[in-house]
Amino acid sequence: MKIIKTADELEKELPGLKRPLGFVPTMGYLHDGHLSLVRKAREDNQAVAVSIFANPTQFAPDEDLESYPRDIERDLKLLRGEGADLVWIPTVEIMYPEGFQTWVEVEGLSKILEGSYRPTHFKGVTTVVAKLFNAVRPDKAYFGQKDAQQAVVITQMARDLNYQIEITICPIVREPDGVAMSSRNTYLGEKERAAARCLSRGLFLAREAYQKGERLSERLRKIVKDEVEREELAELQYVSCADPATLLELEDEVSSCLISLAVFVGKTRLIDNILLGE
Ligand code: PAJ
Repeated sequence: MKIIKTADELEKELPGLKRPLGFVPTMGYLHDGHLSLVRKAREDNQAVAVSIFANPTQFAPDEDLESYPRDIERDLKLLRGEGADLVWIPTVEIMYPEGFQTWVEVEGLSKILEGSYRPTHFKGVTTVVAKLFNAVRPDKAYFGQKDAQQAVVITQMARDLNYQIEITICPIVREPDGVAMSSRNTYLGEKERAAARCLSRGLFLAREAYQKGERLSERLRKIVKDEVEREELAELQYVSCADPATLLELEDEVSSCLISLAVFVGKTRLIDNILLGE
């Protein structure tokens, strides 16, 4: 497994990689959710590249960039175990050299849901993913449904900017108790970790209701809201029942929908979602 720091080294190594080349961008501190993407990339491609870069521009000044967990040695060991061929670990100076002033923004989709609480977040995500795509030039790229809106935003960006990269969205990997795997779960104390179960509990209750025939968006939202509000350590930021493709909020009867939510458990902001229907 090649471990690459600079863009020049990357440029030298790329021609030696077989095609199709699958690519998994990450911010590191890898868990089974990330590794599921690497496994899928491994299955679908002749070579696999992974990037590790805690992208400063997708964190607001009051967010957790400084405390974001890091353990490169552990990450590299895990990636070796999955048979990754190349890992790119660029520095902030490489990705954002002095005088940097060019941004990629998906206008509409970036402003709603997560974007209404984190107004600069997706601009940072799409800019860094575009730069990573330009540098790695993969045939296929892999993202997780855990970040449902990110997946939609990046798919839109790839289409709008004519990237000839096939985007694959992989299912959410959960802990045995239902909590979606996330690097941010490491911030949670013991009681908070138990409280974090309310997100998936709420979503699973909504799924159960849907399976029994419930189709009213306001009722589906309320099932999730009530379950989160029963949890003392949790504070609901929003729950949405939206069209999975446009992410526009649905009213009245729904056929398929994406239920998503953001919850503060203590100081830690957690997100989760579930797709219902086709
Ligand atoms: P990061 O949070 O490190 O996640 C990297 C990829 O792993 C994303 O596509 C994310 O959706 C996926 N992922 C995270 N947890 C998952 C889980 N429990 N199940 C399935 N997939 C999961 O998302 C980012 O980094 C950044 O925004 C990035 C795209 C790298 C741009 O900086």
